[in-house]
Amino acid sequence: MKVLGIETSCDETAAAVVEDGHKLLSNVVASSVDLHMAYGGVVPEIAARSHIEAINPVIRQALKEASCNWSNIDAVAVTYGPGLGGSLLVGVLTARTLAIIHQKPLYAVNHVQAHAYAAFVTEVDEQPEFPLLALIVSGGHTQLVLFKDHFNYQVLGRTSDDAAGEAFDKVAKMLGLPYPGGPSVEKLAEKGNPNKHKFPKAKMSDKYGFSYSGLKTAVLRAAQSAIGEDYNFPSHKLADKLTNAQKADIAASFSRVAIEMLVDKTVLAHEQFAPKSVVVAGGVSASPELRQQMDAKLPIKAYFPDIKLCTDNGAMIAVTGYFLARKGQKVNPKKLDTVPSLSM
Ligand code: KG4
Ligand code: ZN
Repeated sequence: MKVLGIETSCDETAAAVVEDGHKLLSNVVASSVDLHMAYGGVVPEIAARSHIEAINPVIRQALKEASCNWSNIDAVAVTYGPGLGGSLLVGVLTARTLAIIHQKPLYAVNHVQAHAYAAFVTEVDEQPEFPLLALIVSGGHTQLVLFKDHFNYQVLGRTSDDAAGEAFDKVAKMLGLPYPGGPSVEKLAEKGNPNKHKFPKAKMSDKYGFSYSGLKTAVLRAAQSAIGEDYNFPSHKLADKLTNAQKADIAASFSRVAIEMLVDKTVLAHEQFAPKSVVVAGGVSASPELRQQMDAKLPIKAYFPDIKLCTDNGAMIAVTGYFLARKGQKVNPKKLDTVPSLSM
């Protein structure tokens, strides 16, 4: 069964064809990230306009690279939430139209859940098994989820403020590094001393809860004190005053602790629930630091999606669509709405 997956929840216009829920036939991603760089974050109106321009060529390219035409496609899957309202609308309206014109079943996919399904793009005999513990860490979400089976899950904990990726993005901005912050902070961190600053880990009453606001403030205070200023010094002026060595030390110390918080809770949940598999997914799962720390501390080998499937893509939507199809959970293409605030 070949599923076309369409993803437009944020700043990536993506489409992919996946066969039988694991075999990647194509994966096309057009990002408007360059257009947002000047603003230090995603501008919703620019993202939505870029999706409108890119969606048809991206889908055409995904079909072409998969050597498919519409007669070979068995179903369409699309992200209907969570995400930016205008961005989601472009993907959902396109998918609805295509499903109606080509008379294909339509599957509505939760973007956060789909990140975990990126780990299913592999050989069938190497796919993650249930019960499955998933750490989903992206720009908008940070949560630990225990899946008993497909679409049967319990959220063990989530962030009470910023998402991990968001914290990387904000620290990057403070240090004058380009958006998205994760890769740029990590690149600079390689040159810094991760033990230079002793940043605090959030202590949560909720065993599997996360919080990044305290760490973010600690980073701000460390940067202010590194240049001999007090807490009144504005964060947007820090980048000009900090030396490259100071920035690298802050990036390295921040990155180590930000990732440690994720790994600690995953190890704890693994101890308590003894899942058969652990999946780490979402944009932050591209982090080499996260991969190293998880490898070192988790007793079993975690599944990390291929790097190109960690950030937003159509393949994870197609795979989720495939498993929704196996459960017979199609939606009415004339009625599907976007749900920007959808959660798991
Ligand atoms: O999953 P994603 O592409 O979009 C959302 O659904 O949010 O995740 C984007 C986030 C950004 O915050 C970005 O800074 C972070 O993932 N990210 C990383 C890395 N690559 C992307 N964070 C840490 N290390 C990375 N290598
Ligand atoms: Zn995402």
